[in-house]
Amino acid sequence: MCGIFAYVGPKTTIRVALEGLRKVEYRGYDSAGIAYINEGKLATKKAVGKLANLEKVLGEDASPCIIAHTRWATHGKVTETNAHPILDQTDSIAVVHNGIVENFEQLRHELEREGVTFRTETDTEVIANLIAKFYTDDLLRAVQEVMPLLTGSSAFVAIHKNHPDECVAAKIGSPIVVGVGEGEMILASDPNAIIHHTRDVIYLSDGEVVRIKPHSVELFDASRTPISKKVEQLAHSAEEFSKGNFEHYTLKEIHDQPQAIRNAMLSRFLEEYGTAIFEDLQIKPANLLAVKRIVIVAAGTSFHAGLIAGYMLEEIARIPTDVEISSEFRYRNPIVADGTLVLAISQSGETADTIAAVRELKAKGATVIGICNVHGSTLSREADGTLFLRAGPEIGVCSTKAFTTQLTVLALFTLMMARLRHISKTEGQEFLTALKAIPGQVEQILSQSDAIQQLAETYAQFNDFFFIGRRYMFPTCLEGALKLKEIAYINANGYAAGEMKHGPIALLNERCPTLALCTDMLTYDKVVSNVMEARARHSPILGIAFEGDTRLKKIATHLIEIPKTRDELAPITTAVVCQLFAYFCAKKRGADIDQPKNLAKSVTVE
Ligand code: AGP
Repeated sequence: MCGIFAYVGPKTTIRVALEGLRKVEYRGYDSAGIAYINEGKLATKKAVGKLANLEKVLGEDASPCIIAHTRWATHGKVTETNAHPILDQTDSIAVVHNGIVENFEQLRHELEREGVTFRTETDTEVIANLIAKFYTDDLLRAVQEVMPLLTGSSAFVAIHKNHPDECVAAKIGSPIVVGVGEGEMILASDPNAIIHHTRDVIYLSDGEVVRIKPHSVELFDASRTPISKKVEQLAHSAEEFSKGNFEHYTLKEIHDQPQAIRNAMLSRFLEEYGTAIFEDLQIKPANLLAVKRIVIVAAGTSFHAGLIAGYMLEEIARIPTDVEISSEFRYRNPIVADGTLVLAISQSGETADTIAAVRELKAKGATVIGICNVHGSTLSREADGTLFLRAGPEIGVCSTKAFTTQLTVLALFTLMMARLRHISKTEGQEFLTALKAIPGQVEQILSQSDAIQQLAETYAQFNDFFFIGRRYMFPTCLEGALKLKEIAYINANGYAAGEMKHGPIALLNERCPTLALCTDMLTYDKVVSNVMEARARHSPILGIAFEGDTRLKKIATHLIEIPKTRDELAPITTAVVCQLFAYFCAKKRGADIDQPKNLAKSVTVE
């Protein structure tokens, strides 16, 4: 949940760290700090809050060796003292850390018994003091001594004032990427921070340690054996990380969706045979045909995409499918019978709970396919195959284009599985025709932005909402409500429409609007009845329905009409309306849309 950046090389201004932090700030922004070696001493600059606060305290110091950090607080309040980098008690070693040292209390007590004085509330401080304990004259060796002592998922980078041209990093579960430049090297928790310097990267694996100097990269495995690893090329170009003319990354990424959905479909279907193909999926059709059950594991928005995929896979491909919340599933003792296929959905490919669930399922012999947006991510490297979203970097903390491209990839996967089993070529072609029309339909919805903004500005006054829908619209309700929670800080509940009468309807009144998602035609009549029940309790009704819906026009307070599509594809277009609605509510309420309070883009802690 934190952003790490480290640099060794000729760009000696400490401001190079600020640029790096800007690219990883979305991973956590409670506080930020840098440490660097200046005239044989360690210097640190730290600030609570956004990067702009750190920028104010940065001088024009220069140093060929810098480490930097943006924090999402886990252990210790959000204070300057607890801001990383964290130093050892002798101020000789500085550490930046992403993850959690689960056994830090025990380690801290042992060190205190040895006379070490602690100054912060962080778990990270034990890393700095342990390195100091084992340090003689080799920082790399000291880090290698410390690493096996730590439990929990972590990645950290350390510098020592006696070694002004090197950084040493260790990976134990959280991501660390090495940027291999010309006479400069970078370490970062995310490739976004590297691409401005170089596109050549090396992805560290768990248990590995790396030492970087301006002209060298030394890699070691957990047994301290020197290793060499492939230098990979980053897929994106630097401009993909800009927000263009949009006010927020989130709005840009909402508008990216037509093209992102087209990219997700590119060369992944055969019109003539009405099916889908995934060339990069190294799993034989015969093995896919042998699948008897699918388990989907995911978190947050990705879990909502998983629920929709679960409906599709059972209804269209006729495969029994269980959809599980990663953070719950990982503590179960799952039964993984022969023929079980796992779909692990994760935009970042780094969500700790989803990775843990995947590892448990692989330990039980399951085949795992990742549905992921980040090449080189932990999920993409540990799955047996990965279907990439091709959505481009998603910087806004709230997931938008990742969600709709997840649904696109999952729809294609469902089509492929269904055509392997039973649906006809014609049925497959009809499905594909509807899917190919989706980007254009999203463009039509985006052209309604002004009208949606006007409605949002009316509804932004309310602090409580219900989203109601049935079947494919129930998970879509969960997703729409999550958007409103995340970026507008509104208490929005996504609910199965049929469940409202079992209690929640007691909460409806003129101050609690109902967003009625009426784009699931199989259950349309029933949802209209639920809308009438909400209306009878004076709840303002904002309906989302297909164009030409005369019934909703009569009973809804306001209505947003979208182009008609199949029930199983309606979540994609309906979600775009919900995204725009949440965005404009957040804007009206003056919320920090790209970096909502208390959140971070990638939840790499458990
Ligand atoms: C969604 O808007 C949130 N940012 C969050 O729920 C997110 O979907 C969740 O943390 C899962 O992330 P992942 O897809 O990278 O695994």
